[in-house]
Amino acid sequence: MNAWQSMFNYGGPASRNIGQLTNFVFLLFLVVTLVMFVLIAYFSLHKRGSLDEHEPVDAGGGHSFVLIGGLAIPAAILAIVFVTGLKDMSAFPLHDGPHHHPNIRIAGHQWWWDVQYIFEDPSLLVRTANEIHVPVGRPVDIELDSSDVIHSFWVPELHGKVDLVPGQKNLIRIEASRAGTFRGQCAEYCGAQHAHMALLVVADSPDRYEQWLVSERATALAPQTDEQQTGLNLFQSRACLLCHTVRGTMAQSRVGPDLTHIGGRMRIAANIYDNDTANLSAWVTHAQSMKPGVLMPNITNFTGSELRALVAYLQHLK
Ligand code: CUA
Repeated sequence: MNAWQSMFNYGGPASRNIGQLTNFVFLLFLVVTLVMFVLIAYFSLHKRGSLDEHEPVDAGGGHSFVLIGGLAIPAAILAIVFVTGLKDMSAFPLHDGPHHHPNIRIAGHQWWWDVQYIFEDPSLLVRTANEIHVPVGRPVDIELDSSDVIHSFWVPELHGKVDLVPGQKNLIRIEASRAGTFRGQCAEYCGAQHAHMALLVVADSPDRYEQWLVSERATALAPQTDEQQTGLNLFQSRACLLCHTVRGTMAQSRVGPDLTHIGGRMRIAANIYDNDTANLSAWVTHAQSMKPGVLMPNITNFTGSELRALVAYLQHLK
């Protein structure tokens, strides 16, 4: 994973356009700044007389210098930047008409991402959280919405920012031109854990992507061991099922992330901690210490063996 989240580390055509426009504007303004400093230096070294001697200003000279240097050249430079920016924006239209068909629907929550893959046949729907997979080289249309406050969707290596606004559907088209895992980040302050609302975009070959879809679509794996069965029983009899869904079990609540395939995700808590035994155990019992303010409460009424069984079950849910 590239943890730098650099917008100059182009992972797709949109970020390439944005990065190249940024470099162009930076170089243009660098040249303007250099010219300004050269002029300041030149006139400082070649000044004649004092300010008093030059008063009142001689209205007869310098007009054309001000008009060209202060108006015409800046207007031309800003027009070039404006037109170049429009051209780049039009290359990535964000359709907002009634006839769009998003491939993915993402809803922002404090502080995680609810993800649904949409198909014409509703039975093919895939639901997951905080980690999306896309096929390399194919554009993917994402519809963005929020369930509470305004969030912002930004994977710097892939595209520019688009807000998730409650009650409004925004669209963005993303495309990854190389395989890899791209980290994104909520880019609009949305509360105490705004900085811990991360998203992973995994770009796979089309074949691997299709395999992933098929496995995500399946209901949860049945327990294979007694310990995992105990874990499932605990999941369905303690607080877990009040907030989470594990498709194929009694747990069908939509308050928190869908956990049907939690064992297959790389990270937990909206990509803040690695998905391993220690972090999962700590998350179940002390989420408020790991991510203060998160809706997940501390659930401490487990014995040690119960907690191990619950975590073993969750890890089994690939
Ligand atoms: Cu969600 Cu910041």
